[in-house]
Amino acid sequence: MASVSTDIPEEEKLRPQFGTRFLTDKQNVFQHNAWDNVVWDENQEQEAKQKTLEQAAHALSLDEQEEYDTKADVFWNDFYGIHQNRFFKDRHWLFTEFPELNCSNLIKTENINIDKEDEELVSKDNKNNQECDKNEIYPGQNAKYRFFEVGCGVGNTVFPVVQTNNNPDLMVYCCDFSATGVGHVKDHPDYDPNRCHAFVCDISNPESTVPFPESSLDVIIMIFVLSAIHPDKFTSVIGRLTKYLKPGGIILFRDYGRYDMAQLRFKKGRCLSENFYVRGDGTRVYFFEQDELRKIFKKAGLEEIQNIVDRRLQVNRGKQLKMYRVWIQCKYRKPVELKHMSSSSSATS
Ligand SMILES: C[S@@+](CC[C@H](N)C(=O)[O-])C[C@H]1O[C@@H](n2cnc3c(N)ncnc32)[C@H](O)[C@@H]1O
Repeated sequence: MASVSTDIPEEEKLRPQFGTRFLTDKQNVFQHNAWDNVVWDENQEQEAKQKTLEQAAHALSLDEQEEYDTKADVFWNDFYGIHQNRFFKDRHWLFTEFPELNCSNLIKTENINIDKEDEELVSKDNKNNQECDKNEIYPGQNAKYRFFEVGCGVGNTVFPVVQTNNNPDLMVYCCDFSATGVGHVKDHPDYDPNRCHAFVCDISNPESTVPFPESSLDVIIMIFVLSAIHPDKFTSVIGRLTKYLKPGGIILFRDYGRYDMAQLRFKKGRCLSENFYVRGDGTRVYFFEQDELRKIFKKAGLEEIQNIVDRRLQVNRGKQLKMYRVWIQCKYRKPVELKHMSSSSSATS
């Protein structure tokens, strides 16, 4: 079975997360451009909270909120029409933070510890997939590994993933509800339909279709995308995506964290609802807390592998400015223990 290992290799355990430059003496803050793992004191947290409560007290009317919701894809189309593929830079941290994006790290997962009964159920499950594969011809049906990036934009994650995994056994699917963004992906000189399949899809619309069957994906990538979706739809989006994961498959998630500088900078009249904002260009952004993500992923039946806050202090030395950045990074896995799922369903039948 090709699925994702949660046995973190020794060298990964030793590797420090998110860098190692720590600010031990506040006097030294302007000596470097950035500091890692910055601890906030209670005052700073309280001030941030107060600021967001004031923002929420002046939230936009329901009619305005509705308009930003129904035209969400139009605003992102405009965004990519203006910025084309210049805005989001390729991520150097991608493979350090998510070694699972390298197929060679997935091979280990063939050794996932499952007992005999589970093994039979997994193999039955895979057989069902094969039957489905046989009946419906879909791109990547013969691939050994299948990755899917949701909200791929112009492909800043997809292309590094395809290039790093020079592996004919991998198919990388990617979708965005912005046809302009997907157009940029398909026009990219490295776009090879044998290795990558980009398509337009609003993942928050349960009626939208995807070109692969349920239980077919090893990895789902969500980078700064859930934050762009209405909070009322978070649970259903993650629930839907979970269905497409193989048992043992994993969701890799990175997004904005609560009280990030970008949140605290919003002026009055930009708040849609608590912690959810609209930018000047009409695109929307939510700022997450660890616990709410934990609840959303767990509700979908996923197991927590990682759920961490990355706090960084970026410094503009010239202007003597301090910018507190907060991101959340998560990894959640679909359990292999089909036994428990099947026994609970038989208990209810
Ligand atoms: C902040 S951008 C991030 C893009 C890309 N993941 C990256 O990191 O470069 C958010 C992306 O999510 C897409 N998006 C927002 N809501 C979506 C939805 N409901 N379905 C599919 N894509 C969506 C937007 O069009 C946009 O490309």
